[in-house]
Amino acid sequence: MKINYQETTSDLATRIDIHNKFGGRNIDEWMLKTLQLTKGINILDVGCGAGKQCFSFFDYLNGEVTITGGDVNDELLQQAMAENQKRGAPITFIPLDFNQKFPFPDSSFDLVSCCFAIYYAENVPFTIGEMHRVLKPGGRLFTTGPMPENKQLFYDIIREATNNKPIPPMPGSSRYKSEFLSVIRDKFSRVDVHIFENPLAFESVEPFVAYTRASLSEDRKLWGSFFQGKDEFEAIMKKIEESAARRLEKEGRLVMTKVVGGFVAVK
Ligand SMILES: C[S@@+](CC[C@H](N)C(=O)[O-])C[C@H]1O[C@@H](n2cnc3c(N)ncnc32)[C@H](O)[C@@H]1O
Repeated sequence: MKINYQETTSDLATRIDIHNKFGGRNIDEWMLKTLQLTKGINILDVGCGAGKQCFSFFDYLNGEVTITGGDVNDELLQQAMAENQKRGAPITFIPLDFNQKFPFPDSSFDLVSCCFAIYYAENVPFTIGEMHRVLKPGGRLFTTGPMPENKQLFYDIIREATNNKPIPPMPGSSRYKSEFLSVIRDKFSRVDVHIFENPLAFESVEPFVAYTRASLSEDRKLWGSFFQGKDEFEAIMKKIEESAARRLEKEGRLVMTKVVGGFVAVK
């Protein structure tokens, strides 16, 4: 399965920023509490983007850890490397395409993490197989992604704004649980599912619209069936804004709940 997808640095940063500002809960704290990492381990973070989870692991373990972050997007990797240099941290960032064989021998890592990225994999058993291969026996795989019930309000408002135009299947909420969990269960000896819920509460439409823009923007080819080019994009965004304003008027605030699944699998 070929996934037509391209994340941009600014879209990703905008969404991370809105989660931080309007969400009541911190996903990195949840991740660290779930994982209970111990010092001295060797971590591979796949689809590391600008390094969010790598830096979180590094800070939590006070630097007593070896971390490699890999991503296919050069722009995001450059950003991760710049932050690494700024912090004087020794995290290694490398180009890594999870649709290809990973450049590591078998049994290399204690933890392989892959946050909000795995559902872009083209061949699910292959990518999970590579993650399993590079883990040491007893090592853990940690993945995160949106569950099917994620962000109901976001989809409701878009449906209302477009007269129920069918929403294109999002790789995250449509694939993460349904396609990946069973493959992980097949390959690993034990799998636990942890749920993180984070209601984002908006008192005005602007941050909701900014979030929607960053999700639908032209760069994200996923929404190709919704609009062609800038003018159509702006026309849809205007309708979404009007629909969001009506709902805000009616309900007093807009609450969009992120529902994330954390799968922890033991090799
Ligand atoms: C939503 S971002 C998440 C980044 C980071 N883990 C975070 O949570 O901030 C998804 C990431 O998956 C990466 N990605 C997509 N396809 C990939 C592939 N084939 N191999 C490696 N990374 C990929 C993207 O470049 C992007 O950095």
